[in-house]
Amino acid sequence: MQRIFSGIQPTGVPTLGNYLGALRNWVALQDGHDCIYCVVDLHAITEWQDPAGLTRQTREMAAVLLACGIDPHQHIVFLQSSVRAHAQLAWIFNCVARIGWLNRMTQFKDKAGKNRENASAGLYVYPNLMAADILAYHATRVPVGDDQRQHLELANDIAQKFNHDYGVEFFPNIEPLILGPAARVMSLRDGTKKMSKSDPSDQSRINLNDDPDTIALKIRRAKTDPEPLPFEPAGLEARPEARNLVGIYAALANTDQAGVLREHGGKGFGAFKDALAALIIDSLRPIAAETNRLLADPAHVDAVLRDGAERAAAIADPIVAETERLVGFIRVG
Ligand code: AMP
Ligand code: TRP
Repeated sequence: MQRIFSGIQPTGVPTLGNYLGALRNWVALQDGHDCIYCVVDLHAITEWQDPAGLTRQTREMAAVLLACGIDPHQHIVFLQSSVRAHAQLAWIFNCVARIGWLNRMTQFKDKAGKNRENASAGLYVYPNLMAADILAYHATRVPVGDDQRQHLELANDIAQKFNHDYGVEFFPNIEPLILGPAARVMSLRDGTKKMSKSDPSDQSRINLNDDPDTIALKIRRAKTDPEPLPFEPAGLEARPEARNLVGIYAALANTDQAGVLREHGGKGFGAFKDALAALIIDSLRPIAAETNRLLADPAHVDAVLRDGAERAAAIADPIVAETERLVGFIRVG
């Protein structure tokens, strides 16, 4: 069975983008794979996180993963900082990756913005830690949203360079799984920007814990153009906002753009938005309810995470120990 690894940062409430681009696929892939899903708190602190906020958001994110339907007994759910292997392997990868490779990362450029000199060094080497996350388990398939494609290419470059430099076939090739009609959900206010949990405008996103009225209002206010919906997907070109809403609808209704347009083509946005809001509300309601139920018993969530960390470490520790042996480190212990 192929091993899957993926991660999500506890930097806020997960959005509909996280759900459609990642979490929903994580759930579906449980059938037929060994899955390891990680709340990546080490990645979160590459940008400032208030400690109490980080603690709360980390537990909430773990609860959301369980509420979405990830089975922590059949598979593994854990926190990145609980398993030392991630940081250990990341250091080695810091010494394998080239500065030129990191300089090409568009996410670093976006996040560091104009004030690059003031970005943390961690933000710069973020992709090396992400490669370590995956390769510490010899995972071969990684379900992510479209924005992570470049990071996975870099992870493959690191694996290949390591294998080449040390003359081994140790790290496997990683296959990105970028799935579904909503692998890149865009902001509700600007169809050219991705929906993000850290966007300053709450109106730009649907949070998985938004109540039905809030969801309906955000969708009603979502930016659109004055034209009715086209009858064919080709008619969505150069209409990023329309394409985004149709993509969200398609993902939640388990169809594709063509399927949505067969049903809704020719309608104005008023009617379509009402149908879309109802679909989102119905899809998210059970997740929010289950998340709240789980958070009422934080000790249970922590116990699940403790068990996950132990089982994760049992896989990663021997792989990292072997990596260290290949590098030439002496183990005196
Ligand atoms: P992050 O929130 O950056 O930790 O991302 C967690 C997962 O959600 C990754 O697989 C991302 O690619 C995915 N993701 C984040 N935002 C979006 C979005 N707007 N559309 C689709 N996938 C997303
Ligand atoms: N960088 C990913 C994101 O922002 C999160 C992540 C960290 C990840 N480590 C990972 C995703 C390993 C897949 C595999 O979304």
